[in-house]
Amino acid sequence: MSIKTAVLNGVATIEIARPEKKNALTVAMYQAMTDALVAAKADPTVRAVMITGQPGVFTSGNDIEDFMTRAPGQGADSMDSPVFKFMHALLDCDKPVVAAVTGAAIGIGTTMLLHCDFVYVSDEARLALPFVALGLVPEFASSLVVPQLMGHRRAAEKLLLGDPFTPEQAVDCGIANAVLPAAEVVNHARRVAERFNALPPGAVREAKQLMRGPQTEALLKTIRVEAEIFGRRLRSPEAMEAFQAFFQKRRPDFSKF
Ligand code: COA
Repeated sequence: MSIKTAVLNGVATIEIARPEKKNALTVAMYQAMTDALVAAKADPTVRAVMITGQPGVFTSGNDIEDFMTRAPGQGADSMDSPVFKFMHALLDCDKPVVAAVTGAAIGIGTTMLLHCDFVYVSDEARLALPFVALGLVPEFASSLVVPQLMGHRRAAEKLLLGDPFTPEQAVDCGIANAVLPAAEVVNHARRVAERFNALPPGAVREAKQLMRGPQTEALLKTIRVEAEIFGRRLRSPEAMEAFQAFFQKRRPDFSKF
């Protein structure tokens, strides 16, 4: 299993653990993360959730082979698919979610951070949203949230050009709370999550709902609109060229489109 889960001292931990593929997320892994979020929400002993990766990598995003081979309706092209169930479970989690970004966070590795309550980034981390370079479009409401966070011009650098964020830039634009030495990021995130053991859970839950409330409808609507275009683009010749180039370890050639 490439997702490890545990509940310890009031914190439900979801650890992405597929280092041989840089923690690329498969359909089964999205399903396991969804199950863990749903269980954490229902378990009264859980006061916060922590999502983390492996040393040097948080996640390289959606498994690109899954993008190429999933039957329609099973991958990121259907609102019933595991990836969208994961997105909804994260948005629906009424307990604080703390991310410990242990390294590279690509694609959904970055977009999921937009929906966490606390984000701590290793000083070795790189965040990137290379959807367009893959022939795709932004997902997980990033087309709405990223321009809101940094304005259209800086968002265009990240979402259209796919320029990476340094850890410091992630903090500057409000995606992350703080940069920590790589060896300390998980322990720091856990300490923050454990602080909720001393806080009243009902007040925390309702305060989180109030903070997110007005935006939730817009996020869900954006996720639906993005999904429709994303699903169509997954089968586009541009995306196929990008995916094949990734596995052939060459630069994609978009000159023919
Ligand atoms: N999907 C499927 N396989 C992936 C993957 C992904 N998203 N990311 C990495 N892998 C695989 C590679 O194919 C390689 O497999 P191999 O050993 O069988 O050849 C292995 O993981 C190691 O990856 P590699 O690229 O050699 O590691 P690196 O340290 O040089 O680079 C990354 C790490 C994360 C920067 C790089 O792998 C990367 O850019 N991955 C793709 C990110 C991406 O575009 N994600 C999709 C976003 S929508």
